[in-house]
Amino acid sequence: MKSPVFVCESCQEPYARWQGQCNQCLEWNSIQESITHTKKTPDLSPPPTPITNIAIDMPLLYTQTLPELDHVLGNGLVMGATTLLGGEPGIGKSTLAMQLAKVVTDKNQSVLYISAEESAAQLALRAKRLNCLSEKLTVYTTQSMGNIVEQIHNLKPHVVILDSIQVVKDSDLSGVPGSVSQVHHCANRLVSVTKTIGCHSVIIGHITKEGGLAGPKVLEHLVDIILFFEGDRYQSQRILRCFKNRYGSTEEIGLFAMEKTGLIANRHPEKSFLDRPLKPNQSGSMIVPIQEGSRVFLIEIQALVVSSGYGMAKRTFVGVDQNRINVLIATLEKNLSIKLSNKDIFVTVIGGYKLNQPAADLGILLSILSAFYTLPLSHLLGVVGEVDLTGHIRPVKQLSKYIQELGSLGFQYCITPKQTNTTEHPNLTTLSATTIQDAVQHLLKVSKKNGKVAESG
Ligand SMILES: Nc1ncnc2c1ncn2[C@@H]1O[C@H](COP(=O)(O)OP(=O)(O)OP(=O)(O)O)[C@@H](O)[C@H]1O
Ligand SMILES: [Mg+2]
Repeated sequence: MKSPVFVCESCQEPYARWQGQCNQCLEWNSIQESITHTKKTPDLSPPPTPITNIAIDMPLLYTQTLPELDHVLGNGLVMGATTLLGGEPGIGKSTLAMQLAKVVTDKNQSVLYISAEESAAQLALRAKRLNCLSEKLTVYTTQSMGNIVEQIHNLKPHVVILDSIQVVKDSDLSGVPGSVSQVHHCANRLVSVTKTIGCHSVIIGHITKEGGLAGPKVLEHLVDIILFFEGDRYQSQRILRCFKNRYGSTEEIGLFAMEKTGLIANRHPEKSFLDRPLKPNQSGSMIVPIQEGSRVFLIEIQALVVSSGYGMAKRTFVGVDQNRINVLIATLEKNLSIKLSNKDIFVTVIGGYKLNQPAADLGILLSILSAFYTLPLSHLLGVVGEVDLTGHIRPVKQLSKYIQELGSLGFQYCITPKQTNTTEHPNLTTLSATTIQDAVQHLLKVSKKNGKVAESG
């Protein structure tokens, strides 16, 4: 293959493109184009093939004993594929990787755990605590990508875990570990060796200050599956989300609890975001059903509204988009002619869940209203509906599913948008609303302090 380069005729300094003066010998007009012959690399790619002649049976490695991980992945682990697992420090990435190793070694298959961050003793201690010790699990502590590739070729494991990509370095490149070029290059080498060996690789990745996956964007393109751990690391609840999956859906989430013995799959995912058994007659607390993939979860939203001291009123929101709530507060003020500008408003989604579904709008709005009037509510009330700027409540998808889930969990009432073709539940009274005012009327009906809003407003 021929490629043009430019060389200074005076001092032989090479250049990628032409320029007037040589930087080295400062000679003018001495740089001339020259052709170099680079070595031709053999083309190992398969010849063009009709799509009907291509074998499509991908070898799968089902995890099975980690049901929530299976639920997120849908198809188990595909051999030859690479998964990127990201999340905040201390959230449980290494723990999940170790538990995955246990599942694989229990099937008498081998795992190579490359620890670039922790010592072998630290890893062994964790493996012991999580009951993951096995002769099939090999630990290799190195930060050299060259050595890692060599050992993968030597050992040919079924699963490779690299903990983490930000700490390994390829000596062919000059950048420090974690730099864009190092992360890109090292990930590329791992993806390539994974395909050659036919194993499954799990790359653990750090996150940025903003909460996204650290490293070049191309890293996300390189891998086949991207899993992300969410949740409040000071609580036990952990949420595993799939952002990309070349072999399955990305809609499902997995719920775990972090215990001393590791991550335990949540047995009642539908109720997992409820902080505690619901208390009757509590104001400012609202239960909202939301859909994640094929499952419906109940989320508890809590609001607190108090008179402001001096200066600007405080607005503090946890787990909900600030702009979205500000729009809802403005809609509430306008439609019910109430004044909230002199009130501090705090809204929290319980359980570390990040709420971004418009179907939760009405729940947020009514929880603020209930807190504002100290309006005690039935603890067996669920609320669902998207609120628009005119104060109308818009239909939501899968309303029947929400109604059935609330009914089967013993809820008595549900305030919903007015929409047709919904299936009722025999034990649940559905209160349909077209506007915020309709929803408030329903709220008063199920409130123990009937008429309080009318008096105060
Ligand atoms: N002895 C223990 N008992 C209970 N929980 C523990 C124990 N040791 C660790 N943990 C839990 O495990 C978490 C750390 O998990 P892990 O090391 O897997 O996180 P990580 O995401 O890999 O973190 P990092 O990014 O720092 O590597 C701790 O935050 C804690 O919740
Ligand atoms: Mg770790």
